[in-house]
Amino acid sequence: MTLEAIKYHQGELKILDQLLLPMESKYIDIKGVEDGWKAIHSMQVRGAPAIAIVGCLSLAVELQKELPVEKKRLRREIEGKLNYLVSARPTAVNMKTAADQLINLVNELDKNDSVDSDQMKAKFIEAIEEMPKKDLADNRAIGEAGADAILAQQTNDGLVRVLTHCNTGSLATSAFGTALGVIRSLHARDKIEHVYCTETRPYNQGARLTAYELVHEKIPSTLICDSAVAALMRTRRISAVVVGADRVAANGDTANKIGTYQIAVVANRHGVPFYVAAPLTTIDFSIASGKQIVIEERPEKEMTHVNGMRIAAPGVTCWNPAFDVTPAELITGIVTEKGVFSPSDLIDKLQNSAG
Ligand code: MRU
Repeated sequence: MTLEAIKYHQGELKILDQLLLPMESKYIDIKGVEDGWKAIHSMQVRGAPAIAIVGCLSLAVELQKELPVEKKRLRREIEGKLNYLVSARPTAVNMKTAADQLINLVNELDKNDSVDSDQMKAKFIEAIEEMPKKDLADNRAIGEAGADAILAQQTNDGLVRVLTHCNTGSLATSAFGTALGVIRSLHARDKIEHVYCTETRPYNQGARLTAYELVHEKIPSTLICDSAVAALMRTRRISAVVVGADRVAANGDTANKIGTYQIAVVANRHGVPFYVAAPLTTIDFSIASGKQIVIEERPEKEMTHVNGMRIAAPGVTCWNPAFDVTPAELITGIVTEKGVFSPSDLIDKLQNSAG
C-alpha cells in the first residue's frame, strides 16, 4: 500500500504531519489558506511538488466554504491568496508556477462574460483538483525515464546501487515521487541491488522520511551520514546518484536540499552519473542561472536542537541554508516527464518546443 500523505475529498483536506514522522502518523486538518501557509512554512508538509499541491488545495477548501461574491472580487481574492501562499517558502518554484497558471486562468474566466461567479469558482476549483492527478502521472513518467537512463549506462548484470539525498517520495509529491519514483521504478523492474540514503541534516528528511518510505516499500536500503558520501563512493560501487530539485534554472543549475552540491562534486570525482529528477513545474525558465535563486535560510534551532534538546554549544552562531545550487556542469541528466535532458538542452528541447 502506498503512503497517502495528502487526503483531499470534496472540500476537505488532511495532511500527514511530517514533523512527527516516523514516530507518529497523525493527519491534521487544513481548513483554508492560513492553515496551508502555516503547514508549508513550518514544514509539516515539504517537498517542492507537495508544497504546491497542498497550498493550492488549501485555497480550494477555503473557496468551497465562502459565500458567493461577485466575479471581480473573487478574482482579486484568489490572486491575493495565491501570492500569499507563494510567500510561505522562497526556494521551491512549484507553488509560484502553480500560482501564475491559476492567476492566468482566473483572469481569463473573469473576462469571459458567459461565465458567472459560481461557474468561475467551480472551474477554478476543478483546475486545482486536477493537480494531484497530473503530478502522479508525471511522477510515474519520470520514474520510467530515469530508470531507463540509469540502466542504459550499466555494463554489468544490470543491478544498480543508487544514492539519494533528502526526501523526494510520496511524502514530497502527490504520491510515488520524483527521485524516489525513479528508485521505485527500478525496484519494480527488480533492478535495485541497494539504495543508500543520506540523513540530510539538519531536518533529517533522509533519516526520518526517505528511510521510512524505503522500509515501507521493502526496498533494500542503508542510511548513511551526510559526511559518509565520499567514503561510500570510494569503497562501494555506486551506479548513480538521483536527487530531486526545488528549482532548476534555464541553464540547468539546480537548487536542491543543502548537501546536494557536495554530493555532485564527489560523484564527479568518482565518475558516478548524477541525475536530477523533477517535473517541468520545477523548471524556472525565467531565470538564466542558479545565481538568481533565492536560498531559504532556516532558524538556528533546527541545527542546535534535536527533538527539543540542545546539542550545540550554547553561544555558538549557526548558518542554516536549506538549499544549495549544483552547477549544471556536474549534472549528467535532468529527468522530466518528457524524458531525460542534458542541462544544456533544456531551453531548446523543452521551452522552445513547449508552444
Ligand atoms: O526543505 P524541503 O524538505 O522542502 O526540501 C525538499 C527537497 O529539497 C527535495 O529534494 C525537493 O523538494 C524535491 S521533492 C520531490
